Amino acid sequence: MKIDILTLFPNMINPVIKESIIGRAIYEEKVSINVIDFRAYSKNKHKKVDDYPYGGGAGMVLTVQPVIDALKAIEGYEHAHKILMSPQGITHSHNHAKTLSNHEHIIILCGHYEGFDERIRSYFDEEVSIGDYVLTGGELAALVLVDSVIRLIPSVLNNEASHEHDSFSEGLLEHPHYTRPASYDGEAVPEVLLSGNHAKIAEWRHKEALKRTKERRKDLYKKYLKKQEK
Ligand code: 6GU
Repeated sequence: MKIDILTLFPNMINPVIKESIIGRAIYEEKVSINVIDFRAYSKNKHKKVDDYPYGGGAGMVLTVQPVIDALKAIEGYEHAHKILMSPQGITHSHNHAKTLSNHEHIIILCGHYEGFDERIRSYFDEEVSIGDYVLTGGELAALVLVDSVIRLIPSVLNNEASHEHDSFSEGLLEHPHYTRPASYDGEAVPEVLLSGNHAKIAEWRHKEALKRTKERRKDLYKKYLKKQEK
């Protein structure tokens, strides 16, 4: 998978993608991430990328020219899936991450300031938000999106396709996990996990996942029960 990220703040992105599982996925060439500072494409003599809003009002608006010239400079941009990060977009989810993980090439635009010139929108396939709160810019949201998608690429999580057991892929939150020691400060690990009885362990984990989901996420729990009825 190839990912291009258009941003005015490449330093917010670059150190993060070097680390941990994303860093390894890049190193192993399962994904390539190209961070593009679209200010470099500004034809303004001061490299300006924003301007005052027509009609007045507070804040600045991203101008079309630098963004769209940077976009068009990306090889194969016509066929890529183009995402605009914005609090006005559809809310990102596990299912959406799964859909995105099937694309060969994704381009992501991070907004900043009050907003985009409306004419930028027509170049993009969809607008995505990561939740109902406002961030200072799209960079952190883009990182959340990229992280959630990359871990779903086959072979990025080597450990027995561990996302098949993710919360949300089955529609339940995860069961509790324990590791050594068997007792810590008087708190013992549930007996069944030490039993070696795999059927019993699976049953316990499922029961705990149901209980946890019911307690914490009534919405998911109801959805899960409905799905089971079918
Ligand atoms: Cl994608 N951008 C901004 N600025 N704020 C957000 C967001 C995106 N998603 C949630 N809040």
